[in-house]
Amino acid sequence: SANNEDYDLDTPIAATTGIKQGLASYGDAHFSLFLRKVFIKALGYGEDALLRPIIGIINTYSGFNPCHGNTPQLIEAAKRGVQLSGGLAIDFPTISVAESFSSPTSMFLRNLMSMDTEEMIRAQPVDACIMIGGCDKTVPAQIMGGISANKPILPLITGPMMPGSHQGKRIGACTDCRNNWAAFRAGKMDVEEISAINEELAPTIGTCGVMGTASTMACVAAGLGLIPLKGASAPAVSAARMRVAEETGKNAVAAALHKRTPQSILSRESFINALIVLQAIGGSTNGIVHIMAIINRHPELQGKITLNDIDEIGKKTPLVVDLKPSGDNYMTDFHNAGGMLALLHTLRPLLHLSAMTISGQTLGELLDANSFKSFPYSSEIIRPLSNPLYARSSLVVLRGNLCPDGAIMKASASKDRSLLKHTGPAVVFANTADLAKRIDDPDLDVTAASVLVLQSIGPIGNPGMPEAGLIPIPRKLSSEGVADMLRISDGRMSGTAGGTIVLHVSPESVLTGSVFGIVRDGDMISCDVESRMLSLDVNEEEIKKRLEEKEQARKGTSNAKEDVLIARRGRRGYRGLYERRVNQAHEGADFDFLTASGPIVEE
Ligand code: FES
Ligand code: MG
Repeated sequence: SANNEDYDLDTPIAATTGIKQGLASYGDAHFSLFLRKVFIKALGYGEDALLRPIIGIINTYSGFNPCHGNTPQLIEAAKRGVQLSGGLAIDFPTISVAESFSSPTSMFLRNLMSMDTEEMIRAQPVDACIMIGGCDKTVPAQIMGGISANKPILPLITGPMMPGSHQGKRIGACTDCRNNWAAFRAGKMDVEEISAINEELAPTIGTCGVMGTASTMACVAAGLGLIPLKGASAPAVSAARMRVAEETGKNAVAAALHKRTPQSILSRESFINALIVLQAIGGSTNGIVHIMAIINRHPELQGKITLNDIDEIGKKTPLVVDLKPSGDNYMTDFHNAGGMLALLHTLRPLLHLSAMTISGQTLGELLDANSFKSFPYSSEIIRPLSNPLYARSSLVVLRGNLCPDGAIMKASASKDRSLLKHTGPAVVFANTADLAKRIDDPDLDVTAASVLVLQSIGPIGNPGMPEAGLIPIPRKLSSEGVADMLRISDGRMSGTAGGTIVLHVSPESVLTGSVFGIVRDGDMISCDVESRMLSLDVNEEEIKKRLEEKEQARKGTSNAKEDVLIARRGRRGYRGLYERRVNQAHEGADFDFLTASGPIVEE
């Protein structure tokens, strides 16, 4: 009967399989429980396996994802941790997004991965979920989805690759991919040498070995209190990484039993800590977009932490981690120097120690329980606050008529610091095709003082916001030794890249009313990082006139109406959804209907 103990809704199995939470969907609840038992037994599980917390493990292995190449071993180690703590671990797949094999961009697929993650955590009877991720967009996608699903979530990062070696010098993806390619482009290196370097840039599986987006998001996850501190930096191929996986398994069972949901753990203080970490590591500019998207998934924090907070935190936070692209070293050095434990002890006077972590300890309690004694090598890689690599504000937020909703620059990665205060004439490229066609044209009217402008690579203009913001130096200038120029776009650049580069101009150029969209060749543009200013030095009447002309021009085309969004209503599939519903970079380039409050504009 329905009252038989085996099908009683008060037994743990009913709770753990979600039936008590209203997930029953086959007639009456008792029958649902009966059916679930039928099918889990088909997989070979016995009754007693089901009488314990169920920990999901998200498997993002893919033959196209070298950054997640250790996923099978991580699953095994995490399962061991779960089972040593009395839980039952069940792994399941979601999509896997690798930076190098995701057309048009991995960013285009980030929101899709977040939806997959959210819905699978929600749909399946897991009490907590370990999310294996690592490559740039995967960790943010998983945290975004996890916050929205709001079951206890535990990111398990795949970890950085080892550096390689070329003629006795260490090299690693992907800062050195760019430096060496630029040298080859400038004719300083022959094809044999660049080919030899190609063999060594990614010598093992794992995520890019510098402070790019993947490493940034791993450190941010630690700053948020969601992962064991060693989990930010232990190399992908190390035993330490497997022990992190085992520990994550154990933590997951405790998090399930205590119902440590992300919305309850993550507070304003947690995010402020994560932003302090972001500034102190000279983190990826992409990290800002991801953190904004994550914040805007949290019902209590949406819209309450903005680009202004990032800038204010920057003013108080020195860059202390000496890693490429801002510095000289690799993630393995950061790990060997003490990693996040050493960094958080260094940053302790700046941090909110009351922030909760997934372990149930506050950040302060965690640091008290794990002391760190700095040593000479450590303090070279993770500098003391008194001797930073860059005094403050590695990442700055610029404002002005060119970017009323903000633009981002990683000032610490500028190669020619004189460009941090610069005025010059614009050389405008309408889109990436125009750039490709003309950038190396010997007749291009450009000097080292010009400001290179690339339009139409924002979230809507070029769905996925390509990492084309690192506009190459025109060949005729690079061959004369020009290594840096002021460059501005509404797109992104790789976290592993450097230069005086303004990114994420918001609102983006394709939107009606975007001043960035009406910049023309020869217009003077001024940038002053010290005063956080980015402006188009064209008088207001002229700007108004150009905006009106642009609007008129649009009305004359079949894409009529005031907004490019409307013209795109008819497009099909995920791309159509993306184009219609993605929000701007300063909001996280998330879908408006996925933010905590849902859509702000109606279709
Ligand atoms: Fe995956 Fe760099 S390509 S982390
Ligand atoms: Mg990257």
